[in-house]
Amino acid sequence: MQIKFSATPNGDAIAAGAYEKAALSPSAKALDEACGGAISRAIKASRFTGEAAQVLEIAAPSGVTADRVLLYGLGEKKSLGGNTVEKAVAALTKHVLLNGTKTLSVHVDSDDGEMAGRAGLGATLAAYRFDHYRTKLKPEKKPSLTAVEIVTADEKAAKKAWKSWEPVATGVKTARDFVMEPPNVLHPEEYAKRIAKLEKEGLEIEVLGEAQMKKLGMGSLLGVSQGSVREAKLAIMRWNGGKEGDKPLAFVGKGLTFDTGGISLKPGQGMEDMKGDMAGSAAVVGLMRALAGRKAKVNAVGVVALVENMPDGNAQRPGDVVTSMSGQTIEIHNTDAEGRLVLADALWYTQEEFDPAFIIDLATLTGAILVALGHEHAGIFTNDDKLADRLFAAGKASDEGVWRLPVGPEYDRHIDSDIADMKNLGQGRNAGSIAGAVFLQRFVNKKPWVHIDIAGTGMYAGSKDPRLPAFGTGYGVRLLDRFVRDYYER
Ligand code: BES
Ligand code: MN
Ligand code: ZN
Repeated sequence: MQIKFSATPNGDAIAAGAYEKAALSPSAKALDEACGGAISRAIKASRFTGEAAQVLEIAAPSGVTADRVLLYGLGEKKSLGGNTVEKAVAALTKHVLLNGTKTLSVHVDSDDGEMAGRAGLGATLAAYRFDHYRTKLKPEKKPSLTAVEIVTADEKAAKKAWKSWEPVATGVKTARDFVMEPPNVLHPEEYAKRIAKLEKEGLEIEVLGEAQMKKLGMGSLLGVSQGSVREAKLAIMRWNGGKEGDKPLAFVGKGLTFDTGGISLKPGQGMEDMKGDMAGSAAVVGLMRALAGRKAKVNAVGVVALVENMPDGNAQRPGDVVTSMSGQTIEIHNTDAEGRLVLADALWYTQEEFDPAFIIDLATLTGAILVALGHEHAGIFTNDDKLADRLFAAGKASDEGVWRLPVGPEYDRHIDSDIADMKNLGQGRNAGSIAGAVFLQRFVNKKPWVHIDIAGTGMYAGSKDPRLPAFGTGYGVRLLDRFVRDYYER
């Protein structure tokens, strides 16, 4: 679906906004007059209040050529911001996506080009579909909508803003597509191939195979992979848009293309969702694509560990001891706590190889983060208060929220082992997400670091947010793009 900008509406559906108490925006007033007061009458005949993202449809109005006129809610005028606009335009887009509308024109009454850009982002996020594997979709179930036209007085400013938001929309789509793909298709080898194709987007890409990882001493990552017939890959993406010599910002992602649990096999119910256990890596790939796409003025490196966790005659056992690239040894207590094992080597490699300004890792690491925060916030764990504050603010600004949980020596003790440097489990069900975090912290070599546990936010089938599809949300791309934009490019 295409995003266009125009000073006048040309679509077969035209939408204009209203604030709380159904107070019409200037464009809505003009539209109401043009169609002989039909909007005002429709408000009286309905329960439309102007609450953010409400939609009121008037079909076949007289006085205008459009087939539909829509009124959309923007909430309280004084608290209007980019997220409200995004969400409202997303709700409109969802509303008309399949109903026969071809072009939706949306009035955005703001002289801030940024708002028009965010409207484009909202529309694109909402129009997302993953229909790749449907062969029997009836014509009336296919989207009719081919374009959303943002109607704004300052077309030029809007187009300029869109230049910086379209790559973000593309980055989110990239991440979602990877999460949605079935695990027989998107195994580590195929995933690495698809990442390598992003070279044409301006990223520098390098892919390491198992032989190279073995040479580097990545016994922790390789232990997880040894039950799989697929070769593990470590994909490295670089974007150098900053000053030469500036330390890169590093992003590391967990890319378990499928997590059966291994010998500590997961129960069958819901196991299909574990195709999404690579959502952290998908967010990193999507982010890197977004940064390259909008030519962000930073140096950044993305490192994703692509592995499949399978039970097999050759699979790792509980009780095994592996040696990580850092030299630290790990006693395996549960082969299903594999994400931390894979990240241990990816994190160590990243800090050794790139000496980054900081490392942020994203991982669907623990079911326990769902117990704590549900699908509504990701958990963050860090050794750096400034990074925590910045991520919190970026979360508010992007509507991809984070909530901080503690790490520290009192928790670090939980992962001590009787026979090795550490074990890959904490104290059973207590502080499960924190146990994962303190484990990772032992592999960042005291670099500023944040772990983002996205087990809840990266996969979400039941969201009410019109910007999100069922399952693969693409969480993390908007959050981290915002974080980079607001704190590292100015
Ligand atoms: N990939 C899972 C975590 C997960 C659970 C992600 C639910 C998304 C939804 C992870 O590898 C895992 O299995 N974690 C275990 C850790 C435990 C064995 C310490 C868990 O959460 O049960
Ligand atoms: Mn697991
Ligand atoms: Zn996992």
